[in-house]
Amino acid sequence: MKKIAVLTSGGDAPGMNTAIRAVVRRGIFRGLDVCGVKNGYKGLIDGNFVSMSLGSVGDIIHRGGTILQSTRCEEFKTVKGQQRALKEVEKEGIDGLIVIGGDGSFKGARKLTIKGLPAIGIPGTIDNDIAGTEYTIGFDTAVNTAVEAIDKIRDTAASHERTYVIEVMGRDAGDIALWAGMCAGAESIIIPEAHHDVEDVIDRIKQGSKRGKMHSIIVVAEGVGKGTEIGNMIKEKAGFDTKVAILGHLQRGGAPSAYDRMMSSQMGAKAVDLMVEGEKGVMVGLKNGRLIHTSFEEAVKESHMIDLSLYHLARSLSI
Ligand code: F6P
Repeated sequence: MKKIAVLTSGGDAPGMNTAIRAVVRRGIFRGLDVCGVKNGYKGLIDGNFVSMSLGSVGDIIHRGGTILQSTRCEEFKTVKGQQRALKEVEKEGIDGLIVIGGDGSFKGARKLTIKGLPAIGIPGTIDNDIAGTEYTIGFDTAVNTAVEAIDKIRDTAASHERTYVIEVMGRDAGDIALWAGMCAGAESIIIPEAHHDVEDVIDRIKQGSKRGKMHSIIVVAEGVGKGTEIGNMIKEKAGFDTKVAILGHLQRGGAPSAYDRMMSSQMGAKAVDLMVEGEKGVMVGLKNGRLIHTSFEEAVKESHMIDLSLYHLARSLSI
């Protein structure tokens, strides 16, 4: 193994730059040449490579986004696209690839490994929705961003005695909603993994108002449905003054938290070490506080588990 490449793929996440830095610096430390691939798998198909040096990743540890940029590439899902990518990789003399992204990105990395290019994955998505790991880079920062936004909304909700439905990201997973809802003291949290019912949400608002609480925060995971629809239902059925806020891509930006920087640094270095040791077709992950690796096959299985005990705890704390 002489030369490795690193790319970021799918939705960006705070901490991706920190992970790129770790891959590049650990790679050089282990005696490898490291290059970056611009624009994810699209760049692999186009042969869009940039040479990386110790200095090229200076001053990025604290920056959101990804200096290598990212895409969701339809062409790479085809056999033709993968063959084009492999040709470019061969021309460039690349012996291994490190992919920072979500489960869609690892499906692609698995195909490349099967076709002869050893690939290793680093979980990078704000959604925290990958089966083979308890943590994905970007989740902590996204939750902190959401909590900060909800705290601000709570100020105005209290002043105007309003109910706010706040929609957060997460694709099909409720992790961001659950953590942000719990940490911001939401009166109700609606996630795809737990049964939900607008009548129950309304009852909880009414219970609050009986003890004099005239404002409420409802956090809704986007995987459940549109926050606007839930807001309209609450307004129509119960007549509360209800507003809706969609936090959207705000949750994807910003400087990575200390925890995300720590995870990105460790996972980035671990991915390089595994590659040097001859490992391939695996994703680095976190289990019981320790770094582990899982085959891509396992990692992309759709069995990501949310901690429902947290959901029940949040309900019991916001009665
Ligand atoms: O996977 C990260 C994520 O931000 C999801 O939470 C969200 O559903 C999706 O990406 C949005 O994707 P896009 O940026 O392509 O609109």
